[in-house]
Amino acid sequence: MTQRVLTGITTTGTLHLGNYVGAIRPAIAASREAGVESFFFMADYHALIKCDEPDRIARSRLEIAATWLAAGLDPARVVFYRQSDIPEIPELTWLLTCVTSKGQMNRAHAYKAAVDANLAEGEDADAGVTMGLYSYPILMAADILMFNAHRVPVGKDQVQHIEMARDVAQRFNHLFGRGREFFVLPEAQTDAEMELLPGLDGRKMSKSYDNVVPLFEGGAKALREAIARIVTDSRLPGEPKEPEGQALVTIFDAFATPEQRAAFRAELRAGLAWGEAKQRLFDQIESQIGPMRARYAELMAHPEKIEAILQEGAAKARALAAPLLAELRAAVGLSRFSAVPQAAAKVVKADKPALPVFKQYREADGRFYFKLNAADGSLLLQSEGFEAGREAGQWVARLKREGAAALDQAPVQRAEGLAPEALQAALAALQEAEQG
Ligand code: TRP
Repeated sequence: MTQRVLTGITTTGTLHLGNYVGAIRPAIAASREAGVESFFFMADYHALIKCDEPDRIARSRLEIAATWLAAGLDPARVVFYRQSDIPEIPELTWLLTCVTSKGQMNRAHAYKAAVDANLAEGEDADAGVTMGLYSYPILMAADILMFNAHRVPVGKDQVQHIEMARDVAQRFNHLFGRGREFFVLPEAQTDAEMELLPGLDGRKMSKSYDNVVPLFEGGAKALREAIARIVTDSRLPGEPKEPEGQALVTIFDAFATPEQRAAFRAELRAGLAWGEAKQRLFDQIESQIGPMRARYAELMAHPEKIEAILQEGAAKARALAAPLLAELRAAVGLSRFSAVPQAAAKVVKADKPALPVFKQYREADGRFYFKLNAADGSLLLQSEGFEAGREAGQWVARLKREGAAALDQAPVQRAEGLAPEALQAALAALQEAEQG
């Protein structure tokens, strides 16, 4: 079964080398694996929680989009979008908000940290805390559950949020699923790699420590200047140096093959000057980042190209989000009114739009098939051939029960020229009828 992997980056700033090594590079590598379907997005609704400078948010989301693309993301292979282009996400956020217990949000790390800081300063506990900050884990749960992601690669600080997403998913499934699981329960994936890159001073590379190496910002010059500021020990040229534990070496490792790593260590032990070592590090990083920086500059000069890519991504994302949200709305009692049931049942039946029909049959090749026809007889869906009639029957039952959600796995093909939404709508209608 395909594994859905989803991750978002909050669009409040400029990315640094640590973001590239820890998040972007491994995410793109994973998106190229077989059996993985990746969802990458700019978390720009999240940005509003931390930042009230519109220009900064606008610039950051463009930069982060360009960075993903420049780093080699193939938008045809993944679903790549801006959170704020998917209105289904805030809508789902509200449905989830209504089943999330306040007590659990009180325990969220980001909120608790704000409260602790306030109390330490003798302020009111909630001073400066917005409802956005407070409810942030619910928005994040919606990001994840909207696309039924199995795996969410995140830093350790985000693990609690994934657990909260699981909890709220379970509660929603339990309250409204009537035996159905609307949501996959996501798992956090914390790679050692996500934490690994040290900054200039040896602590974890982070904006808040002011120890970052910029990724593209400022060009090769800024890269060189940052590397010059990496803290080393005071051993002189010619003196043997212990490479292990040096931030400079760990950063080098992130861009080097095992052979290059061994050679660099050997040179340091043989007395290579730190200044020389910094030049090696610069060359090593620049050989990989330089070509990306050129693509980045090209993309930043053409925001309209990025926009077009994101619009396509949003269309792909919404084609998945809209049918699920329609089901969720119905499950909580927000479906459209339709003609009166029971009393006028007979009349109603005649008035109802005729449903599509599954037909099962056997071909001359001896195999069993099924197809789905619209009420007017036109073809919507065609199955492959099965050895056993029972197998065909089971798929028909499952499609009726689960609707479009089963399509990914079912051995079927959409009729040529038919819009995916039309098929989804037909299956949703059948599913609704099935559930009575
Ligand atoms: N909150 C995450 C962070 O600050 C970003 C994010 C938002 C995210 N929505 C997400 C990450 C969904 C993974 C999945 O790092």
